[in-house]
Amino acid sequence: MTESVPELAESLGAAGYLADEQLATALFLAVRMAQPILLEGEPGVGKTEAAKALSRALDTPLIRLQCYEGLSLADALYEWNYPRQLLGIRLAEARGEQLSEVDLFSEDYLLARPLLAAIEHPGPRPAVLLIDEVDRADDEFEAFLLELLAEATVTIPELGTRRAVLPPIAVLTSNRTRELHDALKRRCLYQWIAHPGTERVAAIIRLRVPGIADWLADRVAVSVGRFRALELYKPPGVAEAINWAAALHVLGAESLDESALRHTMSAVLKYEEDRTAVEAAGLARVVGDG
Ligand SMILES: Nc1ncnc2c1ncn2[C@@H]1O[C@H](COP(=O)(O)OP(=O)(O)OP(=O)(O)O)[C@@H](O)[C@H]1O
Ligand SMILES: [Mg+2]
Repeated sequence: MTESVPELAESLGAAGYLADEQLATALFLAVRMAQPILLEGEPGVGKTEAAKALSRALDTPLIRLQCYEGLSLADALYEWNYPRQLLGIRLAEARGEQLSEVDLFSEDYLLARPLLAAIEHPGPRPAVLLIDEVDRADDEFEAFLLELLAEATVTIPELGTRRAVLPPIAVLTSNRTRELHDALKRRCLYQWIAHPGTERVAAIIRLRVPGIADWLADRVAVSVGRFRALELYKPPGVAEAINWAAALHVLGAESLDESALRHTMSAVLKYEEDRTAVEAAGLARVVGDG
């Protein structure tokens, strides 16, 4: 599966993801060098899906941590199961026994959150740990993450230090709402995912919309390129291209003309301002009809 870059690219393709050579190489290195990889790029360009597809290609679980402002270590790492501890105390009391602190802070009452789960994953292959939208988490969290990625250990004061048997393959994604710290970047391989060219968009559509006619996949890909040249507020990305193609396919569109676009515009443009801009540019022109 990971003997060579082309082999990994092929496995990713079988898992429903078309990676160009650069991205396939970066993911290959992340796996083979056991180094975290940071994926950046516009929304909808396939950052999250890259990690998901990698886990499918490697036939290993995906463990996902979605980052957000205020993400706490209790959500990311582990938490004590407080209701269960209380219940344990009550039940022991009913039996006329007493639970010691050591009993209460034991494995039985530990809730592993994604980071701990990834460290403790028993194998046979390392899990893919997706740390999604890391730019949304706070600085302190980033610092903690850095340590965790470097050491692949987690210390639980009551239980001691856990060292990963199989350090996870860490895939971090960022939409660049803020710059990440140099220290974190230094630790990671880096790959910018750009919006793919027309041919690749068409290939992705064919892969993701089974049964779609080749001409329709091609026309959608070309039109998406024209939309993007209009400098819209939210230019359609890969996600929108797939969505639009799927809508046209479901409606049984026999050509991509002004009327077909009018009926399916909601799948490709998500802002009123962008609709107006496209109307002004001329619907027929955008779909290359006349
Ligand atoms: N190279 C690709 N091959 C196949 N499908 C793709 C590819 N790139 C993107 N997609 C599809 O496009 C959609 C959007 O991708 P994804 O959610 O991974 O984007 P993202 O970069 O994580 O976006 P966001 O920043 O909004 O989270 C998904 O349905 C994904 O499967
Ligand atoms: Mg994403």
